[in-house]
Amino acid sequence: MKKIAVIGAGYVGLVTGACFAQKGNTVIIVENNQNKISQLLQGNIPFYEPGLDLIVHEAIKNKTLIFENNIAQGLSHNPEIIFSCVGTPSLPNGAADLSFVQQVAHEIGSLITSYTLIVNKSTVPVGTADKVKNIIIDRLVQRNLQITFDVASNPEFLKEGDAISDFLVPDRIVIGIESQQAADLLYALYRPFVKHNDQILCMNVKSAELTKYASNAMLATRISFMNQLAQLADKLGADIEEVKLGMAKDKRIGAQFLNAGIGYGGSCFPKDIKALAYIGKEVLFPMTLIQEVDNINHFQRVWFINKISTHYGPALANKTVGIWGLAFKPETDDIRSAPSLDLIDDLITRGSKIIAYDPVASENIAAHYGNAITYAHSAQQVIDQADFLVILTEWKEFLGTKTDSFSKLKDKVIFDGRNCFNPQVMHDAGITYTCVGRNSVTEQTSKPKPARAELCRSIEAYDRN
Ligand code: UGA
Repeated sequence: MKKIAVIGAGYVGLVTGACFAQKGNTVIIVENNQNKISQLLQGNIPFYEPGLDLIVHEAIKNKTLIFENNIAQGLSHNPEIIFSCVGTPSLPNGAADLSFVQQVAHEIGSLITSYTLIVNKSTVPVGTADKVKNIIIDRLVQRNLQITFDVASNPEFLKEGDAISDFLVPDRIVIGIESQQAADLLYALYRPFVKHNDQILCMNVKSAELTKYASNAMLATRISFMNQLAQLADKLGADIEEVKLGMAKDKRIGAQFLNAGIGYGGSCFPKDIKALAYIGKEVLFPMTLIQEVDNINHFQRVWFINKISTHYGPALANKTVGIWGLAFKPETDDIRSAPSLDLIDDLITRGSKIIAYDPVASENIAAHYGNAITYAHSAQQVIDQADFLVILTEWKEFLGTKTDSFSKLKDKVIFDGRNCFNPQVMHDAGITYTCVGRNSVTEQTSKPKPARAELCRSIEAYDRN
């Protein structure tokens, strides 16, 4: 078992620290916000992440998870490994802001007294480990000390809402290292998390740094691809959900991250895509595909919001708009780069009233908009009070809603940015239902075509005979 320091009790730091502690390592989390530490010690997790609270409580109780207020106190425990999990927000030009990473490197260089492995978990541009190394060398030279140390890259692949299982049962662990000592330390630390040792991938540091951007960019590219295809499907009278199924059965393509919607949000994809485009620009290699992924994502939201304004025109000013879902995706209270922010801004400018419901993210939206919108206690309350409904997050509790429940919705109009319902069923229930890439049913004026379910039933009947 190892003694580890984790710098930063943000999303990545807290999940990382708690999961290492759960395996019996001693983890010191360094967090400069004392109020956050006090809250954590009282059992209050600063964000919604299913399962994290139990692991944190248990580890605090077992004294495997300790909190310190500054790096000096954290390093006084003599950790062998330090994970840097500080934020790397976007600068206005799209580049990642490395000031926190550099500050941490400076302090580590000023404090270490024996061999230490410094591991960068934050998403950082390729070459950042070298920068960190140089800052630490400078500090050691100034302190007139000759201490060996390593800087490794170990990007995180944690999905919000699923972060605990992503950490405890990872698909793979990517480790960028320069020395055998660093490889051995990280291998020993991570071996209990994987079934097979080939799930731990050791590579050069720059490859590891680039792997993080490459993985997020590939997932974002799939989403933008499907979003653009969804708009084409609408124009051609195809159904993007059927197209998706047809693609996903090809093992080379697979089913994940093929859901068309209102574009990706959150704290990672939008920021990382912009950062990767910037990395390309810096070495005079424009990442044209990545820039297009970003453009498509932006226009997907504009396209969806335009559908609403085109449908209602100036009458939107007198409407009460119901919103289901404020978080950027289900199972999180995170609203960073959430589509709800763009829609609410647009509706407020047009003078509409808004009543919104989200199972966990309303508080964060309220901190942003205060009394400018009304917060409902339930999904049904939104239906009861709104003229029409917009669905922005595919929370499970919305998916099972029966069409009867929409009977009180005044205009019988729904804009669904997450394709939660079957357009044919909505059409049959008399609801004007606009979704993403499957509008061929609701937009036709003549008798609807037989639904896919009916066609499939006739194929089953053929098989039986
Ligand atoms: C993402 C990655 O999935 C993680 O592997 C990565 O570690 C993390 O970023 C990070 O860099 O820290 P996260 O942002 O939590 O995780 O959320 P995702 O589940 O990836 O969803 C991102 C966005 O894509 C959401 O807005 C979601 O609604 C959207 N999405 C996802 C779609 O529009 N369609 C899909 O099929 C899947």
